[in-house]
Amino acid sequence: MAILEVEDLTKMFGGFTAIKDVSFEVGQGEILGLIGPNGSGKSTTFNCIAGMYAPTAGRIRFEGRDIGGLTANRICHAGIGRTYQIPRPFQNLSILENVALSAYFGQDRAVSREQAWDQAREALELVGLPSEAGATTEGLGAAALKKLELARALATQPRLLLADESLNGLDHTEMDQAADMLERIRTERGITIVWVEHIMGVLMRVVDRVVVLDHGEVIFNGLPDSAQSDARVIEVYLGAEA
Ligand SMILES: Nc1ncnc2c1ncn2[C@@H]1O[C@H](COP(=O)(O)OP(=O)(O)OP(=O)(O)O)[C@@H](O)[C@H]1O
Ligand SMILES: [Mg+2]
Repeated sequence: MAILEVEDLTKMFGGFTAIKDVSFEVGQGEILGLIGPNGSGKSTTFNCIAGMYAPTAGRIRFEGRDIGGLTANRICHAGIGRTYQIPRPFQNLSILENVALSAYFGQDRAVSREQAWDQAREALELVGLPSEAGATTEGLGAAALKKLELARALATQPRLLLADESLNGLDHTEMDQAADMLERIRTERGITIVWVEHIMGVLMRVVDRVVVLDHGEVIFNGLPDSAQSDARVIEVYLGAEA
């Protein structure tokens, strides 16, 4: 069963078409990789699904319900969590407070302060960040900031996670750890994941399927192995990387 259905999604910024007729489905429990070169429309696709941008055209269904054009907070409350490519935590709040805020305001049900703190600690444990009250965001490196993003998204108790990871700035060990973490989130929490990344190698190890974007259009949808031998993918994607 598809948890997310994206149909002919188009987003224009003025006269510029960032994505055009993008269609794909995400199966319940799947890890889908959404890949493509810089500027191919990955974040725009996420931003339309998550309600940051209203789609210019097309349909988005989550658990069978039309969510296209809903505001970001309503989509979050509906059960879709997302991370941002560029982490922007509240600098003057602790790590725990940052995540507790997400738990408190990000769910479609009344959450007590105690529950919010508990869920925040749980999310921080899952991503491997310190959950004690005194730990601040000061001095967190790129990898830790990515983890904080993930924890903030997880604290909203999503059933679908849109992870705009973009792991550049991370070394190989950190990239592998990020991949393992997403796999663990799926296995331990049963959360369906769409993972955006433009470094192909690290992603291919954990995704069930990949959708490849180029210039705002889907050019491939299938198994990771066949993506790596697809002439068009090699040309636009691996070619660009090389
Ligand atoms: N708010 C905006 N206004 C105008 N153009 C935008 C806006 N957001 C994105 N774009 C343009 O849309 C295209 C797709 O951008 P997008 O950020 O979705 O790419 P991406 O695949 O996420 O790239 P990257 O790998 O660099 O993160 C780019 O040409 C970008 O400049
Ligand atoms: Mg992006």
